[in-house]
Amino acid sequence: MDVKNRIDELRSALHKYNHEYYVLNNPSISDYDFDMLLKELEKLEEKHPEYADESSPTRRVGGDITKQFKVVKHRSPMLSLSNTYDTEELEAFFNRAEEGLGFAPEYICELKYDGVAISLIYKDGNLIQAITRGDGTKGEDITANVKTVRAIPLKVLGAIQPDEFEVRGEIFMPHKAFMELNAQREQEGEELFANPRNTAAGTLKMQDSSVVASRNLDSFVYGYLNDKDPAEKLSDAYQKLEEWGFKVPSEIKKMILVSTSREAIFEFIAHWDEARTKLDFDIDGIVIKVNNFNHQEELGYTAKSPKWAVAYKFKAEQQVTILEGVEYQVGRTGAVTPVAQLKPVLLSGTTVKRASLHNADQIAKLDLHLGDAVYVEKGGEIIPKITGVDLKQREGKDLSPVNFISHCPACQTALNRLEGEAQHFCNNSLGCPPQVSGRIIHFISRKAMDIEGIGAESVEQFIEAGIIRKPSDLYALTFEDVIALERWADKSVEKLLEGIEQSKTQTYPRVLFAIGIRFVGETVAKKLAKHSGSIDALLSMTRDELEAIPDIGPRIAESIVQYFENQDNRAEIERLKGFGLNFELDESEKISGEGMFSGLNMVVSGSFSEYSRDEIKNLIEREGGSLKSGVSAKVNVLVAGENMGPSKKQKAEALNIEIWTEGMFKERLNKA
Ligand code: IVH
Repeated sequence: MDVKNRIDELRSALHKYNHEYYVLNNPSISDYDFDMLLKELEKLEEKHPEYADESSPTRRVGGDITKQFKVVKHRSPMLSLSNTYDTEELEAFFNRAEEGLGFAPEYICELKYDGVAISLIYKDGNLIQAITRGDGTKGEDITANVKTVRAIPLKVLGAIQPDEFEVRGEIFMPHKAFMELNAQREQEGEELFANPRNTAAGTLKMQDSSVVASRNLDSFVYGYLNDKDPAEKLSDAYQKLEEWGFKVPSEIKKMILVSTSREAIFEFIAHWDEARTKLDFDIDGIVIKVNNFNHQEELGYTAKSPKWAVAYKFKAEQQVTILEGVEYQVGRTGAVTPVAQLKPVLLSGTTVKRASLHNADQIAKLDLHLGDAVYVEKGGEIIPKITGVDLKQREGKDLSPVNFISHCPACQTALNRLEGEAQHFCNNSLGCPPQVSGRIIHFISRKAMDIEGIGAESVEQFIEAGIIRKPSDLYALTFEDVIALERWADKSVEKLLEGIEQSKTQTYPRVLFAIGIRFVGETVAKKLAKHSGSIDALLSMTRDELEAIPDIGPRIAESIVQYFENQDNRAEIERLKGFGLNFELDESEKISGEGMFSGLNMVVSGSFSEYSRDEIKNLIEREGGSLKSGVSAKVNVLVAGENMGPSKKQKAEALNIEIWTEGMFKERLNKA
């Protein structure tokens, strides 16, 4: 079969399998087979850039970096909904709609997904633009990130569809994805995300789309805009959208109700107010819309919202229970977090015994007293929180206020709170037991140094025995040190020492993650490693230089600078270096400013025989060259492969830009 045909075949098969898996929830091939097909397609596309396609299933994995999102105007404004909170307010909405139309219309009711609104523009069957709601008139173009959301088709399925249309919907993070992400962050000592909605919003605004791809976002659509050949009713549009591969609410799961009966609508609301706890995503109400598009137009709009739709908002589920105590946890970075201990109470189907209190400000704001009857809520937040105190129940009781501790519960050091920060810290990082053990446990963990033959319990045992206090002590351990301890035998000690020795081969990004700088999780460590090349380069970077790295904000930059200002940390790094740990990227992973091509702006185009196009790009970056996507006066070199478009070459010639063949590129590289 010819290459182009195979590429087309793979693309449509992968679009179909993706749809089966992420939209229909009914895969017909194994993950392994899917990966194999995707790999095959990736290889072919690499070899044949002339067949590149922005809607290829390979675009799902991300990789595009957007430094600044472009602001674009919406074709028609993205409005909001007016809210109702009780039956009376909803009856008033029905009355207004019926008066406006002169008859009782058909309504469509659906869930109000608690995520981020998105506008999706399709042209000739391809997703060409995805825009955030923004201020309703203008939003940000986040196309590269949205392309990684697998429930959103990159290419519409089926042959018949309009040339151009817009679909609106909601992108959200399912509970499962949220919990996995937070579990991972907890392990990495990173601050936990508060709730799925904020996490989805933050994720969609990240600069690196490959991180977005890893976050498992999901989506439902709820609107269809097309002037040329509109559907008659929204419920009809849903049917079309479903055929085209969009994820629309399931009729079978009764996520939609089409009805003229107010009574049926109230029942639908009552059903979901209860059943929402069983969903794997957050909803905060029900949306009731007039179903027929002509009737919608007739009713029209106010400045902010349509008159043909309304949201019925659920009350957050709440319970009252007794605050029995407050516990303070010390993390490996020294952050002290208060946790409320509650008399167990049933909330949204689970027994709640603890609630997060975040920090001292939160306790003060609630004016908590021990023994108080407190309101506990599970709103958007997965971790329950205390939202208030039933002051009536405090009357006549002699309860004492909760005062935030002044000293570390683990080592009794006076706590410190930086200006402008809400969190208290214990600065005794070398002497505070949970910090000492937390740091070493993090250091040896699977995603960090991955040291075999040792676990959290052994770390505690070694600390108790006084044979380790910091990660570098592991590398000084001797057979005699360990064999003297209980539960250790020759074999297990040998295995441990071997594991420790073996860990010296771990790469710089892992080592950087392992040393446990606050806010530097696995992903951030990879970025920092790639952009710094070595720890020596990293520790001399200024805040501004750090912030110039994609996805590094002021908070992370500040934390890194502070970490390296601490002489104990510097000494620990020197000692680890002395033991032979990697504090530099391997030659093959490097991008340096001082390479063969440093200072050159370069464009790569066409296909090559010895290298893939991506390999050439990586080599250019490694050698300090800067990649540009198009030929312009700023470009110094065009690396031209086979099958390159003639116009690019002509433009390069006209601008007097150097043109290198693959052979010339290789020659210069070899000189490096
Ligand atoms: S229809 C004029 N349907 O709620 C707006 N919106 O406050 C028509 N939302 O920004 C929107 N689920 O992001 C509609 N099933 C649903 C929805 C929904 C969630 C969000 C949407 C919108 C906000 C309105």
